[in-house]
Amino acid sequence: MRKVLLTGGAGFVGRHFLKRFLDAGDEVHCVDNVAQFTGGKLPKDFPFYNPHDYKNFHFYHEDCRAYFKRVRDTDFDYAFHLAAMVGGRLMIDNFPLAVADDLSIDAEYWQWAKEAKPKKTITFSSSAAYPIKFQRREYYVLLKENMIEFQSDLGMPDMSYGWAKLTTEYIGKLAYEKHGLKSVAYRPFSGYGEDQDDTYPFPSICKRAIENKGEDVLTVWGTGEQMRDFIHIEDCVDGVFQTMDKIDNGDAVNLSTGIYTSFKQLAKLAAEVVGYSPEIKGLSDKPEGVFARGGDTTKQKELGFTYKIGLKEGVEKAMTYFLGNV
Ligand SMILES: NC(=O)c1ccc[n+]([C@@H]2O[C@H](COP(=O)([O-])OP(=O)(O)OC[C@H]3O[C@@H](n4cnc5c(N)ncnc54)[C@H](O)[C@@H]3O)[C@@H](O)[C@H]2O)c1
Repeated sequence: MRKVLLTGGAGFVGRHFLKRFLDAGDEVHCVDNVAQFTGGKLPKDFPFYNPHDYKNFHFYHEDCRAYFKRVRDTDFDYAFHLAAMVGGRLMIDNFPLAVADDLSIDAEYWQWAKEAKPKKTITFSSSAAYPIKFQRREYYVLLKENMIEFQSDLGMPDMSYGWAKLTTEYIGKLAYEKHGLKSVAYRPFSGYGEDQDDTYPFPSICKRAIENKGEDVLTVWGTGEQMRDFIHIEDCVDGVFQTMDKIDNGDAVNLSTGIYTSFKQLAKLAAEVVGYSPEIKGLSDKPEGVFARGGDTTKQKELGFTYKIGLKEGVEKAMTYFLGNV
C-alpha cells in the first residue's frame, strides 16, 4: 500500500487518478477546495463512482496552501500536484490574474515538498508551456520536449497559464538540483473525457452535436480550423503510470497522440456518430487560442508509452454516456 497525496484530486484529471489509486488499495489523501470556475466537484457528486465508498479515501475540502501549512507528513510515497486554476479558453484569455494564482499554489507546493520530502512528485504542467511561435497558422510543428530548454532557449508560452506551468517546471528542476527532490513533469495536450467540464471543447462540441441533431448547421468556436491533439484521459493516466518511475530529475514528458484534429473535424465526427452530416461553421466572436498545438510522441514511446484510445472511439464512448445522461 502506497501513501499518496493528490492536490486538485476532485478535478477532472484528479478523479481519474484517484479511482486508480483507490482501486489499488492505496491510502489516498485528496486536497481540493472545489474552486469556482474549475472542473472540481464535491466527491459526493463525482460521475462514475463515489470515493466515500472506499475506506482508503481521505478528503480535505480546503485550499491546498492551507493544507501545506497544516500538514507536514513526511511519509508520502507519491505527491501528485494537480491543483490549479484552469478552465477553458475563456478563463485563460479573460481571467489571466485568476490563473496567475497558480504561481502561488505551485510555489507553496514546492516549499511544502522541501520539508515533507515526498519520495516522488508528479506535477501536471501543460502543453501551454510551449512557445506559441511554433503554433501559428503560418508555421507550426509537433512540439518536442526539448523546445523548452531552461539553460538556453525559452519562448513565449500561452498566457499566464503557460507562464505558471513553465515556472513550476523550472522550480521542479531546481528542487531536484538543490534539495534532491525527485519529480517528473507532464505536459498533457488536450486531455478529454465524457466527465470533463463543459467549458472544454470536447464535451461542449459533442453535446452541441447531440442537441443540434437533424439541423443543417453545427457551430464551433473561432474559425474552427484551429487544431489540437486530443488524448483520452484514461490514456493520460496510463501514460503517467507507465513512465513516472523512469524520470527523477524534473524532466518533462508530453502526453499526446501526435495527431492534429481541427475543431471542425471533431464536430463532423461527433455529428456522424450521432447520425447526421451538418455543415460545420466557425463562430468568429469566440476565442480560438493558438492555431495548431500537437505533441511529438518520440519521448513517450522511448519511455514505453503509446496512447490506445483513438478519437473516434473516444467520441463514441462519450456519446453513449451523454445520450444516457444528457
Ligand atoms: N485536462 C487537460 O487536458 C489538461 C491539460 C494540460 C494540463 N492540465 C493540468 O492538469 C491539472 C488538472 O487539470 P484538470 O483538467 O483536472 O482541471 P480541473 O479544473 O478539473 O481540476 C483542477 C482542480 O484543482 C482544484 N484547485 C484549484 N485551486 C486549488 C487550491 N488552491 N487548492 C486546492 N485545490 C485547488 C480545483 O478545485 C479543481 O478540482 C492542472 O494542473 C492542469 O493545469 C490538464
